[in-house]
Amino acid sequence: MMKIILVAGARPNFMKIAPLVEALAWFNQQGKGVKRKNERNLQSLLVHTGQHYDEGMSEFFFRDLGLPEPDIYLGVGSGTHAEQTARIMMAFEKVCLEERPDLVMVVGDVNSTVACALVAAKLLIPVAHVEAGLRSFDRTMPEEINRILTDQLSDFLFTTCKDANRNLIREGIPEEKIHFVGNVMIDTLFRHLEMAKKSKIIEKLGLMETANLKKYALLTLHRPSNVDDPVVLKKIFGALNEIALRIPVIFPVHPRTLSRIQEFRLNRLINYVDINGTEATHLPPNLIRNKNVSRRVLAVPPLGYLDFLCLMSRAALVLTDSGGIQEETTILGVPCLTLRNNTERPITVTQGTNFIVGNDPRKIKDMAFFILENGIPPRRIPRYWDGKAAERIVKVVKDS
Ligand code: UD1
Repeated sequence: MMKIILVAGARPNFMKIAPLVEALAWFNQQGKGVKRKNERNLQSLLVHTGQHYDEGMSEFFFRDLGLPEPDIYLGVGSGTHAEQTARIMMAFEKVCLEERPDLVMVVGDVNSTVACALVAAKLLIPVAHVEAGLRSFDRTMPEEINRILTDQLSDFLFTTCKDANRNLIREGIPEEKIHFVGNVMIDTLFRHLEMAKKSKIIEKLGLMETANLKKYALLTLHRPSNVDDPVVLKKIFGALNEIALRIPVIFPVHPRTLSRIQEFRLNRLINYVDINGTEATHLPPNLIRNKNVSRRVLAVPPLGYLDFLCLMSRAALVLTDSGGIQEETTILGVPCLTLRNNTERPITVTQGTNFIVGNDPRKIKDMAFFILENGIPPRRIPRYWDGKAAERIVKVVKDS
């Protein structure tokens, strides 16, 4: 019996673990029958660190993705990077000592990823990193540090593209540890796309006509480099509001961005919209207005996976500083403007629908208008982004 702890902590982790939970359960079920030589039964435990804890950032994703309740919830919450990482490590070490897993599997590049990988490695428990080898080559990004360290600590490095294999080899990782398996986030997208199309979010936002014409944009913004400096944030909203004069720009606001907007007194630059029937709203109640009153960016509460996927799939354009959204738009064939100076996912630019525009307002505006008028060339779907990545990962682990 091989005991695997699967770790998730923050929003972008949940869509990555969902197909792994499913594949582990499936293989375990199959394993009860006749086994090949060296094959082992798998037992998995799901640990949620609690890095993201709001219902809109965590619970709705568990619900939408059909994830089981975590077996263990660490409840670490927010803090500085050192505080958060340290709290996760202290709590996770206890779990590892008690559960004695044979493997700790971490995904992505958030603080929970590196914290749990470090704990496991020090306890001599093998680590598997799903989404290994991505590099932005920009160490001002906290995620880049998390990626480099997690990869150095890992025994199984599962990559989404060949670029990642090359990055790892350049950093001295032995080739036999690296497995090119594809993209688990795309497994989740394929599994949920049909269900997402049934979401009522388009109606709730009053976007029926614009959606039929594919004439709205979807925006996400939460990177420290974009939202922690009032001058930068104000300039970005300047450009976005010019786009909003042409088409509605829907903006599910991340809690960290919302608190920066409040702190910098930039409320006037966006229009807060409550969504009828949405369970949670953490938007400032005195600022919620009717969505039609001004042609500004329309801020809505963070959305669940299915609502967001629905909006993304029917958008004319997505503007984002997220990592995963660059990949999801590539699969959906929706143009994506990445409001960062670099990407750790270059395949979305060379093969997909992604354009790196940075945070210069003129560039954002010009590129958005150009794409709205001219469209973009057809994209290619990267190899192994086929809905079977989790299956490949579990097979490698099981046969190890
Ligand atoms: C984290 C990840 C980032 C990922 C993002 C997606 C790291 C280093 N960063 O950034 O890679 O793209 O998640 O969302 O791990 N907050 C809440 N409720 C929550 C969670 C956060 O209010 O449920 C607020 C808190 O004020 C917190 C702030 O958001 O201090 C930032 O949260 P944190 O988890 O530290 O980083 P993110 O910016 O969410």
